[in-house]
Amino acid sequence: MTALKNDTFLRALLKQPVERTPVWMMRQAGRYLPEYRKVREEAGSFINLCTHPELACEVTLQPLRRFAFDAAILFSDILTIPDAMGLGLSFSEGEGPQFARPITSAADIHNLGIPDPETDLRYVIDAVRLIRRELNGSVPLIGFSGSPWTLATYMVEGGGSKSFRKVKALMYEQPALMHVLLEKLAESVAAYLNAQIAAGAQAVMVFDTWGGMLTTEDYREFSLAYASRVAALLQTEVNGQRIPTILFTKGGGLWLETMTEAGYDALGLDWQTDIGLARARVGDKVALQGNMDPVALYAKPDIIAEKVKTILEKYGAGSGHVFNLGHGILPDINPEHVGAMVEAVHRFSPAYHRP
Ligand code: CP3
Repeated sequence: MTALKNDTFLRALLKQPVERTPVWMMRQAGRYLPEYRKVREEAGSFINLCTHPELACEVTLQPLRRFAFDAAILFSDILTIPDAMGLGLSFSEGEGPQFARPITSAADIHNLGIPDPETDLRYVIDAVRLIRRELNGSVPLIGFSGSPWTLATYMVEGGGSKSFRKVKALMYEQPALMHVLLEKLAESVAAYLNAQIAAGAQAVMVFDTWGGMLTTEDYREFSLAYASRVAALLQTEVNGQRIPTILFTKGGGLWLETMTEAGYDALGLDWQTDIGLARARVGDKVALQGNMDPVALYAKPDIIAEKVKTILEKYGAGSGHVFNLGHGILPDINPEHVGAMVEAVHRFSPAYHRP
């Protein structure tokens, strides 16, 4: 494998010294880019992009041709695992993900198998291998998965949800059964991430998009416990190199202290959390990733630059910060505004890393 030319992102996650703050963006490959819309149009559907490694590779690389991002993220989706478990994933325009066979009974849960990534999710692992080769050492590749709790919400609801009434009913009424489901998902997620690491992913991120919908005690029991279980099962050393891990819980700002105990190198922050206060709360235990409001990218470039400056200033001096949005970029953002954000991180951040 070619040596990595830019490892700023990996060093920041491990709180090692850097010359400037690294930057990438959640959903950096996606509909805000005309070149993405073109490939998606030709492919016919989002799922076709995910299942054809050469297309997944192409759209992964697109944002890196435009912007000086410090990491690439595998183009895929968190719902590949439930799909491989047999739930039948589809995306309908404007309605988001849907499962043909959601979980509706105890038998459905007991019958779920743990997918073998190298066979059942071969297209993802092949995409990782291809992207690593095509990146040719320019920047590190991030692998990812949904958290067990977040995957369970989609599997029980059958798609997106506002109230999470079905999955919460299962959790409140049959907690032991919910634990069976979450344990299977934790094993599946760990096997999936380990296969991505073996195929070349140089950092991994767990998306707990819906952990923030839980009460404090339920968050610990049903979300964080299984994110920790995943971390404990990960093979995070490859050829003597540490593979850094990131846990992102949207709405998790209240629980940062407990999250530092989950076994991850870094925590992703949504935009509601003050990154300066967050740093004071987590201390030296973890790095932080985030956390500009994705909606701020609608503002004019000079205002975007000011917002970037505020976040860098709040985090303050020293390593351990990866600049990102607080959630995924929205589909109708002007790509030039993304350029303004990246440029501002490059312009303002070296001041915080002088020895
Ligand atoms: O960050 C990246 O660039 C990598 C790719 C990535 C996608 N989905 C591509 C995608 C990642 C990391 C995800 C994760 C994901 N998928 C999450 C967790 C992250 C988060 O946003 O909190 C969730 C909850 C999903 C499930 C999912 N997939 C939803 C809710 C949707 C949106 C449906 C819609 O129409 O907006 C998707 C589809 C999806 N995943 C798209 C992309 C680029 C849009 C597909 C398209 O229409 O082109």
